[in-house]
Amino acid sequence: MNSKKQYLYLIAKSKWEADLINAECQALIGKPPDENGIIISERKVDVSRGAYIKNCVELIFQTASLEQLHRYLEAAKLYADDFRVSVTKIPRGLKMNSMELASEIGARIEGSPDLDNPKVIFYLVATDEQLWFGKITSESDRAWIKHTAKPHTTSSSLPARLCRAVVNIIADIGDSLVDPCCGAGTLLLEAAHIGINVVGYDINKKMVGASRKNLEYFGLEGAIHLADAREITGRFDALTTDLPYGIYTQASDKLYREILQNIKSLAPKAALITAKDITDMLCDLGYEAKRVIPVPKSRVTRYIHIVDILECND
Ligand SMILES: C[S@@+](CC[C@H](N)C(=O)[O-])C[C@H]1O[C@@H](n2cnc3c(N)ncnc32)[C@H](O)[C@@H]1O
Repeated sequence: MNSKKQYLYLIAKSKWEADLINAECQALIGKPPDENGIIISERKVDVSRGAYIKNCVELIFQTASLEQLHRYLEAAKLYADDFRVSVTKIPRGLKMNSMELASEIGARIEGSPDLDNPKVIFYLVATDEQLWFGKITSESDRAWIKHTAKPHTTSSSLPARLCRAVVNIIADIGDSLVDPCCGAGTLLLEAAHIGINVVGYDINKKMVGASRKNLEYFGLEGAIHLADAREITGRFDALTTDLPYGIYTQASDKLYREILQNIKSLAPKAALITAKDITDMLCDLGYEAKRVIPVPKSRVTRYIHIVDILECND
């Protein structure tokens, strides 16, 4: 193997969310996954905040044959207390028995196995052509699953996993992030959970209460205010919002323009989510559109516009 340490990242696969997945991988790891949902990189990243990035494995051996892997393991005399061996096959239907593979590998590692509460997880990723073996250094905390059961939600609330990916694309841990139309606060929840300082606004008092209670329910902090996004002021590291739309909201181009005109002064970069592609409007208003990530879901396609706001970049 290469003398520099290498890391394997395993990425969730979804045809519909492929662009969003690529963008999250680019933002956190610096490259997109291959067709197997794998990234190999010399960059070590803590992926506990990952939405579609499942885990990071520090590679120990890479080989094309099981016999060779066994020989490497026997020569290396690996030792670990409380370890487990996990196996992922790509594709899942690959003709190999995961349990047998795991126990054959485990038998070649010295120390004590603990399948229920392992301190060390050795990991094998097997494809038709390659076997990658290593040790997990971090795994996604998948906390969006419990956040999905937040006490307050609305028909226009975004999927929590999508929000986690958006937050990862636009902000870093420790940044300040504003959502000027926060609704029930799904974006804020994911951001606050990973250590971003969040501020939210909504024109609807009920929504302000919903966001506050949702954050509180999960023991998270954030400042939520009742305000019109057309009037708010302030300065943040990043902005993300899901602009008003849907049958209960009067979402006109005029409202979009007025909101977008004002929130331009709030942050140098933004991820703006809409139910239609508004790239032309954004360019017209002086935003620098970097890319649009379409996320189709049943009959609705969401468009995530990643933009720079040049007048804020001083
Ligand atoms: C699509 S929803 C946001 C949903 C939110 N992301 C969630 O997951 O719950 C848009 C929100 O914008 C709010 N809104 C509409 N016009 C606004 C304005 N002028 N200023 C601030 N908020 C506004 C609505 O009250 C609504 O809660």
